[in-house]
Amino acid sequence: MPGTANLLTPIQINNLILKNRIVLPPLASKKATADGKVTDELLDYYRNRIGNGLIIVEHSYIDKAGMASENQLAINDGTKLDGLKELASLIKEGGSAAGIQLAHAGAKADPEITGCNSYSPSGIKPPGIEKDYKPEKLSKKEIDELLELYATSARIAKAAGFDLIEIHAAHGYLLNQFISPLTNKRDDEYGGSLANRFRIIGKVIESIREVIGDSFPLAVRLGSDDFEEEGLKPEKAAEGILPYLDSIDLLDLSGGLNGYGVLDEGEEGFTAYLADEFKNFISEDKLPPILIAGGIKTASYAEKLLVSEKAELIGVGRAQLKNRNWPDKALNQLNNN
Ligand SMILES: Cc1cc2nc3c(=O)[nH]c(=O)nc-3n(C[C@H](O)[C@H](O)[C@H](O)COP(=O)(O)O)c2cc1C
Repeated sequence: MPGTANLLTPIQINNLILKNRIVLPPLASKKATADGKVTDELLDYYRNRIGNGLIIVEHSYIDKAGMASENQLAINDGTKLDGLKELASLIKEGGSAAGIQLAHAGAKADPEITGCNSYSPSGIKPPGIEKDYKPEKLSKKEIDELLELYATSARIAKAAGFDLIEIHAAHGYLLNQFISPLTNKRDDEYGGSLANRFRIIGKVIESIREVIGDSFPLAVRLGSDDFEEEGLKPEKAAEGILPYLDSIDLLDLSGGLNGYGVLDEGEEGFTAYLADEFKNFISEDKLPPILIAGGIKTASYAEKLLVSEKAELIGVGRAQLKNRNWPDKALNQLNNN
């Protein structure tokens, strides 16, 4: 019947109402200026992506030392505000809610690109980095400074008019390096036990919440499976994030300590099993809505994930890079069935 598709059903994320369940997940465009400012080309990349309930703007670095690639978008200081305002308005004028991902690459940041030493919980690089540089181990004072960087970026995101902030804690980036047993060998309160490794997530949430308040939508993209034998597994990730779920409005489950590259050849819905694991482990009343992105190409598959209550939001990345009109086409298909 027309109009009954679950994909079309609005959903409330804290104080934000999304018009439907389709999300453009963060997709690095590398279209910013050399110092991370918004360009016309970057605006064009987001223009006319109408039809998405939510667009989460690509990973934006909160610190130059945490920059992952050249021409990456930045949200590290006030000079970025005007461009980000323009970007948030463009997305909202297109009818979608506008989110932005706050990112820090940690040991993945290449000093040749950033011009600074890279740093991480234990000075250990995640798998897949062949370049020969040695990240520094973060001191506790530097961890406190890092929390300030998150707060500054959150302030900029809110001032720019974004509706939602997503904390990037996946794909081998800095916060993923804290939660993974492979890259965190610390022996202080930020390392050792699962609870200690996840402590940083709570601290980052706390420092961001101080700036944005409780009613502003906050998402976490969680690296929930390292895809490494001795790495973090979904059940442990669910246990680790549990104490912080009260202050998270949307849980975006992803994986790959080696980065999202390992996901490239996946089947349709190849990360949906993560939602199963979380929903098995955590009771329904404690879990915020779950966002799943991973090889989803068809409206019928997306609809199936929603109907079976595996996920509450559906991320469609590469299929939207191939076809800008994916949401409209998908919704039309469902309406005509
Ligand atoms: C070109 C490209 C850029 C990406 N950039 C980001 C990013 O900035 N932040 C992030 O968390 N994930 C990033 N990802 C991962 C996607 O958000 C998504 O999780 C992944 O591509 C799986 O979804 P898909 O199969 O629908 O593309 C990127 C993926 C691609 C292909």
